[in-house]
Amino acid sequence: MQDLKELSERIAAIKEEISEKTKTLADSKSVYELKKTFLDSKQGQIGALMKEMKNIPNESKAEFGKTVNAAKEWALNYFEKIDAEMKAKEMKLRYESEKIDISMPAKKVEYGNLHPITTVRNQLTDLFASMGFEVYEGTEIETDFYNFTALNTPDDHPARDMQDTFYLTPEFLLRTQTSAGQVHVMENNKPPIKIISPGKVFRSDDDATHSPMFHQMEGLVVDEGISLCDLKGNLDMFVQKFFGEDTVTRLRPSYFPFTEPSVEVDVSCFECGGKGCKLCKGTGWIEILGAGVVNKKVFDNCGIDSNKYSGFAFGIGLERIAMLKYGINNIKMLFESDLRVLDQIDD
Ligand code: DAH
Repeated sequence: MQDLKELSERIAAIKEEISEKTKTLADSKSVYELKKTFLDSKQGQIGALMKEMKNIPNESKAEFGKTVNAAKEWALNYFEKIDAEMKAKEMKLRYESEKIDISMPAKKVEYGNLHPITTVRNQLTDLFASMGFEVYEGTEIETDFYNFTALNTPDDHPARDMQDTFYLTPEFLLRTQTSAGQVHVMENNKPPIKIISPGKVFRSDDDATHSPMFHQMEGLVVDEGISLCDLKGNLDMFVQKFFGEDTVTRLRPSYFPFTEPSVEVDVSCFECGGKGCKLCKGTGWIEILGAGVVNKKVFDNCGIDSNKYSGFAFGIGLERIAMLKYGINNIKMLFESDLRVLDQIDD
């Protein structure tokens, strides 16, 4: 380059090029890239103009420098303007793509809840714990001795027919009743004993109110001077806390080999208050559990002095309680895991 005239022409051409090229830019990153090709102090077209200074006559050098700087200033402003426009455009696009339609229905959040059997077990456990009972968890596989013989039900005892048993071997079986746990507790603990024992039990039994696997909660209290009155008092407290303050219990004579006397326990109908309704089949009473005074023979089998100690025991069917509480008439509903049913049962 020889003179200022040529410089002006070059600058005019550069400006032309810049305004042409910026027309087609797509984003702020390409603005930056393009800006570099003009303004980079070494390789940029405008940056490179200064290197021509050496060819310019001395008297024009000052003017030359000023002109180049003005061109640089112009380009800087120009790119700044384009960059701002581009960023505004990008922001707008982003706002649009991330726009939320607040009139859309919200996504449904599904909450889980405990299974009704778990709920009933937890409620009963809390309730009996508040009455001073400790929890003992037995095993689902038992020996014939713990499940039957020690509970005064020897091999040839007709009461064995009351329960259809799944035998694993002649000695081992799936427990048919949580009562088996009573024996372990009495073998390993000295009175006073006050326990509940919830768990699964198994019987070869299958209809609308029976399932081959179901849940029970056993209760056992052993101490000096325990009588049927204590059983009644404890059960009254239990039903009042669980079914409602106005409910009472009624004991009917029954038979279990491990209790003497044995009773079937009814609760006054918590639905109709005893007047008679569909739930209590018009009787005003609902059977809820079996119980009795611990048979001396069971104490003898467990090494507890039956002259010194006495006790009561009871066994509650948890499915039965859950069915009564939630108005379920087929036990299968508790095992099919149909969410349409389970969703309606939330306590
Ligand atoms: N084990 C009995 C059953 O499964 C229920 C039962 C009755 C348990 C009386 C007891 C009891 O502890 O005293 O049918």
